Amino acid sequence: MIHAEKISVSLHGTPIVHGASMTAESGQWLAIIGPNGAGKSTFLRALAGTVKFSGSLTVSGQDIQALHPRERAKLIAYAPQTPILPDDMAVMDYLLLGRTPHLGYLGQESAADRRIAAEVAARLDLSTLLRRPVGSLSGGERQRAILARALTQQAGVLLLDEPTTALDLGHQQQVLELVDELRQERGLTVVSTLHDLTLAGQYAHQLALLVDGRIVTVGDPAEVLTAQTIAEHYAATVHVSTGQDGRPLIALRRP
Ligand SMILES: Nc1ncnc2c1ncn2[C@@H]1O[C@H](COP(=O)(O)OP(=O)(O)OP(=O)(O)O)[C@@H](O)[C@H]1O
Ligand SMILES: [Mg+2]
Repeated sequence: MIHAEKISVSLHGTPIVHGASMTAESGQWLAIIGPNGAGKSTFLRALAGTVKFSGSLTVSGQDIQALHPRERAKLIAYAPQTPILPDDMAVMDYLLLGRTPHLGYLGQESAADRRIAAEVAARLDLSTLLRRPVGSLSGGERQRAILARALTQQAGVLLLDEPTTALDLGHQQQVLELVDELRQERGLTVVSTLHDLTLAGQYAHQLALLVDGRIVTVGDPAEVLTAQTIAEHYAATVHVSTGQDGRPLIALRRP
């Protein structure tokens, strides 16, 4: 379980996130939605510990800020929206970076570490690309490699910032289904941002709507994804219908 309480972040003196709180229960998927520039990535970076914040952050009751980065990395894995990648590094070596917090004193990967990386790669259609330099990957392949590195870390909490934006439909489904399978198999807790509101509603148990750095609504998908709420916060005209599974389907329509 990950619990964030009154998280505030300023970037270069500008307040971006204002006292945002959220809880994702063990084995649950929480999606953070909201318009461009709302502060979703900044909030996720605070949870990942890559930006300074005030407030409290615990995983299973443990204060994350008190932990050494190596111990923190065993609990929380993070796939950023726009990471800087080591372009010359082979994809396999990049995935093995996910094993760093687990390595022993000599920092040498074992056969088991390589097997974990290779298994994740296979599930994301990356097996044939493992020797290629990261810089040679297509946008979608890069995005799957970023996710693969985070999954190779085998932390209990997975933070995903827009994991599907560069992916074709088939790979969007593959990535989200894989994350959901791992959630069910291993009790992973997932916190993701997702621009596609229908997808957010299909996979997440809870949605948190972040607007201007503040969480304005939290609830299950049908509660949060109403045409009225979307019109108010996204300035978009949409039609919301209910799918066979009872979850909302959002379609843009001409105003
Ligand atoms: N270094 C910085 N200095 C000042 N402002 C910044 C800095 N980095 C980001 N911002 C601003 O903070 C706000 C929130 O950015 P953030 O990337 O968290 O938004 P987001 O909700 O993830 O948006 P998107 O949907 O476009 O991914 C934006 O207005 C952005 O321009
Ligand atoms: Mg973002």
